[in-house]
Amino acid sequence: MLVLDDQSTINQQFTTPSAILCAAFRYINRRMKIDIQVTVRPARGVRGSVRLPGDKSISHRYAMLAGIAEGPSRIENYSTGADCASTLGCMRSLGVKWERKGGDGAGNTIEIEGRGAVLAAPGTPLDCGNSGSTMRMLSGIVAGQKFTSEMIGDESLSRRPMGRVITPLTAMGAQIASQSGLPPLQITGGSLKAIDYKMPVASAQVKSCLLFAGLFAEGETRVEEPLRTRDHGEVALRAFGAHLERKGNEVKIRGGQRLKGVEARVPGDLSSAAFFLCAAALFPGSQLTIPDLLMNPTRARLLDILTLLGLKISVTQLEEIHGELVGTLQVEGARLKGISISGADSAALIDEIPVLAAIAPCTEQGIEVRDAKELRVKESDRIAAVAANLRLMGARVEEREDGLRIPGGQKLHGAEIDSCSDHRIAMAFAVAALRAEGESVIRGAESAAISYPAFFQTLEELVVR
Ligand code: S3P
Repeated sequence: MLVLDDQSTINQQFTTPSAILCAAFRYINRRMKIDIQVTVRPARGVRGSVRLPGDKSISHRYAMLAGIAEGPSRIENYSTGADCASTLGCMRSLGVKWERKGGDGAGNTIEIEGRGAVLAAPGTPLDCGNSGSTMRMLSGIVAGQKFTSEMIGDESLSRRPMGRVITPLTAMGAQIASQSGLPPLQITGGSLKAIDYKMPVASAQVKSCLLFAGLFAEGETRVEEPLRTRDHGEVALRAFGAHLERKGNEVKIRGGQRLKGVEARVPGDLSSAAFFLCAAALFPGSQLTIPDLLMNPTRARLLDILTLLGLKISVTQLEEIHGELVGTLQVEGARLKGISISGADSAALIDEIPVLAAIAPCTEQGIEVRDAKELRVKESDRIAAVAANLRLMGARVEEREDGLRIPGGQKLHGAEIDSCSDHRIAMAFAVAALRAEGESVIRGAESAAISYPAFFQTLEELVVR
């Protein structure tokens, strides 16, 4: 039996990952050095139905807005990932009371008592863990508070650029100290003034950060994005009662608006679904059903791309919940052609590109990705990580500054994959491993718990051998 204690470094190989991943999830926030290895065997198909934990992007935003709303909120199907737990932890440090309901206090329904616009000064640094979303979006809220907060993160987050929120928040009147644009951040908030801001980078996190800060600012804040990014910030603000105006790529919010708590259910995470959809895509004849899945048009470009690649997709039972589109997805695997992803598509698919690239050798004509240099500053350098791991599996790959070109019609062999402690790399290569000859070992598999702790267990349940 494996005993986890505060000193231990786990470095062992497992074939039954679920219990170990749950343990890993508890240890991630303690900054232990762990390396859990999961073995993935080749499969013959994918068959079944899976209901996914709540979308990560929406869960973060609901937790933050519920904290600064008036009255209670109840959020069902909150993301099970460590990132969204980091957001809840930060909200607690800011004086927001919340409780998990169901599953003996370990469930995915969160009841939050909103404090209204005034939060409490935190006694300790706000620990954002691995979560760029937490640090960037919450910085917009603490910038509107009359105290100083320190925001810290793990090794990976400490390398991620924060200048993109520091510059506009400073222009609004916040005082922010950083390590040359990197975390930790020390934010002294106060009276903010509205700005008119043209974002240089297409980033939904930055857009949400500024709209949240705009709530605390005097005047009307205007944010213009270079490309249309996911709109969960705008949709969530409206669900909590705020009024926003959108025209083209520009959104405006008036300061001083009060939010009101909601009862909401978070739709299944489409970026987590991407791994199972790509797994199904690898095997003609696979059948997969995903009910209650997020279908927000600013996130659903993946479904168009998979359709263009050859996957047969149908959507039924569409409904709108608090402004978010939700539906049931049914897919059937078929032969995969090839595709080129660039421009606005690269921004719209930014979290799904690693898994699309990982299955690219198994398509007929291959996949090319351009205009995606943001991938280099995610939880890892995802362009380098995808290229290195595909090469380890025997594939030819052309790595470029802003993307990759991966020829189709290639055979993969099993390999020892380095997840680079990045959840999406670990999961993407577990999918590619299903079509390899021989077993693969995913190193750093515990990182899947950042967005989806039950990933390996669910994958095992869905594959046919
Ligand atoms: C997110 C936006 C994207 C995405 C991240 C979640 C969000 O990041 O990669 O996983 O919830 O707004 P960027 O804003 O850096 O593009």
